[in-house]
Amino acid sequence: MKHILLLTTFFFFSLHCGIAQKVTVYDLQVDDFYSPMGIDSETPTFSWKTASKEYNVNQTHYQVFVATDAVFSKNSLVWDSGKLASSESVYTVYEGKPLSPDTKYYWTVKVWTSQSSRSSQSRIATWSTGLMKLKNWDTKWITVAEDDDYRSNPKSPYFKNEFKINKKVKSANLHITSRGMYEAYINGKRVGDLYLTPGWTSYNNRIQYQTYNITNLLSANNGIGVILGKGWHYGRLMGTKKGEQNYSGNRVSFISQLLITYEDGTKERVIDDSNWNYSYGAILDSEIYNGEYYDANLIEENWSNYGVNNPEYKSAVTVDDYKGILVSTSNEMIKRQEILVAKELITTPSGDKVIDFGQNLTGWVEFKANGKKGDVVKIQHAEILHKEEFYTDNLRSAKQLNTYVLNGDSDHLYRPHFTFQGFRFIKIEGMEDIDLDDFKAVALYSDMEQSGTFSSSNPLINQLQSNIEWGQKGNFLDVPTDCPQRNERLGWTGDAQAFFNTAGYLRDVKNFFDKWMVDLEYDQYDNGVVPSVIPDVLDNKRPRDGASAGWADAVTIISWNSYLIYGDKEQLKLRYNSMKKWVDYMHSKSIEGSYVGNNHYGDWLFYSVPNDPPGRSAVSNKKMIAQAFYHYSIDLLLKAAKVLENKEDVTHYQNLLNQAHQAFQDEYVTKKGMIASDTQTSYVLALKFNLLNEENKKIAVERLVANVESYGHLTTGFLGTPYLCEILSANGRADLAIKLLLRDKYPSWLYPVTMGATTIWERWNGIKKNGDLASESMNSYNHYAYGAIGEWMYNNLVGLKVNELYPGYKRFTIQPLFDKNFNYISGTYNSNYGNIKVNWSRTNDAISISISIPPNSQSDVFLSKPYKGNWTFNNKKAEGSVLEKKDDTDKTYFLLGSGDYQLRLKAE
Ligand code: BGC
Repeated sequence: MKHILLLTTFFFFSLHCGIAQKVTVYDLQVDDFYSPMGIDSETPTFSWKTASKEYNVNQTHYQVFVATDAVFSKNSLVWDSGKLASSESVYTVYEGKPLSPDTKYYWTVKVWTSQSSRSSQSRIATWSTGLMKLKNWDTKWITVAEDDDYRSNPKSPYFKNEFKINKKVKSANLHITSRGMYEAYINGKRVGDLYLTPGWTSYNNRIQYQTYNITNLLSANNGIGVILGKGWHYGRLMGTKKGEQNYSGNRVSFISQLLITYEDGTKERVIDDSNWNYSYGAILDSEIYNGEYYDANLIEENWSNYGVNNPEYKSAVTVDDYKGILVSTSNEMIKRQEILVAKELITTPSGDKVIDFGQNLTGWVEFKANGKKGDVVKIQHAEILHKEEFYTDNLRSAKQLNTYVLNGDSDHLYRPHFTFQGFRFIKIEGMEDIDLDDFKAVALYSDMEQSGTFSSSNPLINQLQSNIEWGQKGNFLDVPTDCPQRNERLGWTGDAQAFFNTAGYLRDVKNFFDKWMVDLEYDQYDNGVVPSVIPDVLDNKRPRDGASAGWADAVTIISWNSYLIYGDKEQLKLRYNSMKKWVDYMHSKSIEGSYVGNNHYGDWLFYSVPNDPPGRSAVSNKKMIAQAFYHYSIDLLLKAAKVLENKEDVTHYQNLLNQAHQAFQDEYVTKKGMIASDTQTSYVLALKFNLLNEENKKIAVERLVANVESYGHLTTGFLGTPYLCEILSANGRADLAIKLLLRDKYPSWLYPVTMGATTIWERWNGIKKNGDLASESMNSYNHYAYGAIGEWMYNNLVGLKVNELYPGYKRFTIQPLFDKNFNYISGTYNSNYGNIKVNWSRTNDAISISISIPPNSQSDVFLSKPYKGNWTFNNKKAEGSVLEKKDDTDKTYFLLGSGDYQLRLKAE
């Protein structure tokens, strides 16, 4: 008892001190989430950040405490890491007593820094465990009767159950998931704020369940309701053969556990798989591509309340046929994000009533309607107007149509449930008076925290940045999709790897991609082939040989780049096997280092000219591309093997790398250094992937530059574009990179901006100057791949780059291009150590820059000297804190630790 008191007092004392001290510990995360619920991991990781106004602050020691109560009494303490001498503040692995399922844990960390001998303590943060082991899911799946399968009956079933509580509740959690999508209700209130749950995984292998704290929704008598829709599991997706579904079974179903912890310390599961009933309600059909049919007259008021019964209830059926595993949710789920107001009501030449929301987005429209009971309102969605008319040809067979039968209640808020649309415009039918204030567009996307910002003195570039951001928002719906509107919306691997680094700058995509990479591994074929889309709904484990270069390589590229951005070595270890399987597959298809595997998409959507007698189309040889990516993937695997200290693999893959390197020279580089195809993409890939000797590097740069100059523009597709500007600027031609960036005629990044784009287009010429459209068979206006230029903007205009030797921004580079086309650039990036800021601006004869570096990290700062003169600090303390400095005539180098620095270079 004495001990408990002592410990309690100790904690509060140090918390109090923590506030008064200059170092604060904040942003506590468990498995990269703030206070997550329902974590299955037996060894979760802890991360924290420190803040201080002082310079060069580094963590020297830390001590983590985990307990089952908030006072950390002795009996409740499950882990005391002890005071450890370490600068580690991210992904510290739990090493305490075994964790119990469905339990809330409290944790706090004490941090010692170079700044003071006294420690600083964080506030107390929490997380709760999930059901942890499969055996805790001992209820069955609930579904409809066999003759109500979704083929004969597309309506959404409304399931209902009831329970009573007669003790004082301390906390209550609902763990739930479904085959199909679900929305759960307790006592008339919607459970949680997540949408399109349970998200999309490799359903045959695993489904994520969600955990909700429902303590506040409960009373003595309770009703629980669950509505199901077809979702990704059962709805039609591209690749679905006629008459065939993607996954097994024809009936939507859900499984749940409602666990209550009472004040007296006991625990109870209040409902199980018995006594569920179901009937139908307002949702008469719901499909991802086609939209929803909703009749508001069929809503049974308070249907999920206790005692409200439907005479048409049928008994629900239980099934136990799921062969995969249920796992807790490891990524941020989809939430409502921006709510956009309607900008303009347009009557098209053919008389359609159309609303413009001013922004292409992914989500749905919510509205109120003044119409009469029984009126049918149809809302169709489109990305553009063409010749002033509502244009849907590029949606291919996706209807994107929500139909509502009104109930006459003007306060009723209409929205769909188990679908989403990609749109900027909606066409409204069946409504006489349209009041713009009644309509809102709701953006839906995975709730990833924003990590980076970018702005510049050039409004067109700022619009491009906004388009890149909206491209990410619109296509990060639980999986990285190619587009959100037509009958596709799939997790294309090539698009994802091309955009990954840009995505990582803008949002914290760690959990999002870690989760998707697990599904990639599940869907990877036994022979190592990585399917083109994940989850693999196109091939679905049919025997397949071959995979596209630049698509399948997502496994090596994303795994490695994620390691560079976040520094999570454990995650790299988890991905290693999958990376290796893919490289080994390619090796099995190679002869003396030359990769001969087939099925390539090539440099998808490169610059091409119709009827092209002079041969201006920039076609890059697919075999050459495949050899380049083969080499790149081996190289990344080799790097991973080195980090993970796998010596045998290092030797083996170093040999493979050498062979692949030689084979590239033998087959694709001529004696005088021309590379097969002689396109921008061929030089860019060869230079980026280190495929050339010094002599040939020089030649490749010269030929690339000559090529760009002869066209006057880029000619690259999905594979060359992400690296084009990077290669130019890394080889002394930043001026040309800037020229490409600032070009506003087709083909370029700014051309769509000048045409009014609010997202990134799939094609460089989605809309032609004369208003004609590219072929409707493949012409999305929300495809993020070309947005990969974002990475170059952050790396070069802001100048922020990761340092491979110190992954996760432990030590990073700042090296901005003070390009004369910009008067200012400002960028921020919230790294695992805290917010990094770089801001530079120019006046006629001076450049100023301010830099912020978070504690526990360092930066190598290279400042060029566009004017004759010297970089000077505006603050003595900052100047005195510089760790290293080297002045050259054309640039100055500083090694800086944490702190805020302002410098200026004035022309002499
Ligand atoms: C998708 C792409 C994808 C490509 C592969 C298209 O239909 O929209 O973004 O990478 O197919 O060929």
